[in-house]
Amino acid sequence: MSERADLQGRHIVLGLSGGIACYKSAELVRLLTKAGATVQVVMTEAAEAFITPVTMQALSGRKVYTSQWDAREANNMPHINLGREADAIVVAPASADFIAKLAQGRADELLSLMCLARPREACPLIVVPAMNREMWSHPATQRNVAQLVSDGASVFGPGSGDQACGEVGDGRMLEPEEILADLIAFFQPKQLQGRRLLITAGPTFEPIDPVRGITNHSSGKMGFAIARAAAERGAQVTLVAGPVHLSTPRGVQRIDVMTAQQMFDTVLPLAAQHEVFIATAAVADWRPATLAEHKIKKDGKKLAPSFELTENPDILAAVASLAVPPYCVGFAAESEHLLEHARAKLQRKRVPLIVGNLGPATFGKDDNALLLVDAEHARPLPADGTSADKLTLARELMAELARRLPARR
Ligand code: CTP
Repeated sequence: MSERADLQGRHIVLGLSGGIACYKSAELVRLLTKAGATVQVVMTEAAEAFITPVTMQALSGRKVYTSQWDAREANNMPHINLGREADAIVVAPASADFIAKLAQGRADELLSLMCLARPREACPLIVVPAMNREMWSHPATQRNVAQLVSDGASVFGPGSGDQACGEVGDGRMLEPEEILADLIAFFQPKQLQGRRLLITAGPTFEPIDPVRGITNHSSGKMGFAIARAAAERGAQVTLVAGPVHLSTPRGVQRIDVMTAQQMFDTVLPLAAQHEVFIATAAVADWRPATLAEHKIKKDGKKLAPSFELTENPDILAAVASLAVPPYCVGFAAESEHLLEHARAKLQRKRVPLIVGNLGPATFGKDDNALLLVDAEHARPLPADGTSADKLTLARELMAELARRLPARR
């Protein structure tokens, strides 16, 4: 994915309380600044036992605050000033003890004092827990976290897996990349809150024999970008993916398939439970009529084998012709005459919206240019007819989709 500045212009106060996960916060600062944010680090005394303010200053390019008595502030009120400059306070790691303090509204050192004193409307509080699994599952911690959420804070994670103490379970801090992705999503408008979207992505693979098959160059990047953009906007996303080498976007439920028939068999029963179906997959139109049980050998013969092909079911057309179909969006990957082909597909598959792109030029690339085609209009995305990275396009497409969706059933 090309370098993106999704947090450009955002000012984040990153609070560290005491925990071994403090080492991850160093990487988090790097990722936040790379994404365009400015980062002001505030550390508790316990955090300083795990990582030094020197490290955090070097990475953030700003002096770290560790005390409410910091005389650098002209009014000597860092707990007031820091929260008023910030677009969000992110406490990562948030220890069990620090969460308990926040839940009780205690304020005996700078970080908790600043959280309490922040302007709640303008400066959201995001808590990223990090602790041993017994501490996390303890009723006291669960009670405190529930209290924080009901007081308006957001909680990212925790993750699950190996813990520093050697135990395995829930409570480890999310990885820096996951915190970054969740923070970027946090700032996206929630235009698709609670909407259920079903998306197909990637190529299909139609086996000829146990080692060979027919496939295509689709990388799945556009479909995965759409899944991410939809989840960022609050949608519940199911992603049915052909064979691709992409990681699952945060919060997206993924089902892997191989063949067009498997994709069809997976999608059809799910379609009725979704409000939107977006078919980005480059589904193979044909498959070998028979599957050879064993590898087809040359055996010294000079004649190449020939195959009979049979047509695959059209997943998009089948979903669009359900008695109560979801809002269907098709993709048209063409090599020429984009508008004409997209219009023809709109009518043939009886869908309200086709997204056209010139396939061979964009397969596997990070950038793309789209043409949104409905019964009346055609408009390019980006609007100026240039190209943009696939996540930017996916976000614009989701904003457009939100405008087009009928009111909730
Ligand atoms: N599609 C599908 N199932 C298929 C074939 C296509 O769901 N068996 C969907 C694609 O995901 C895409 C749209 O239909 O959203 C258009 O696919 P495309 O292959 O471009 O169109 P075809 O109908 O196959 O027409 P042609 O091959 O003539 O371009």
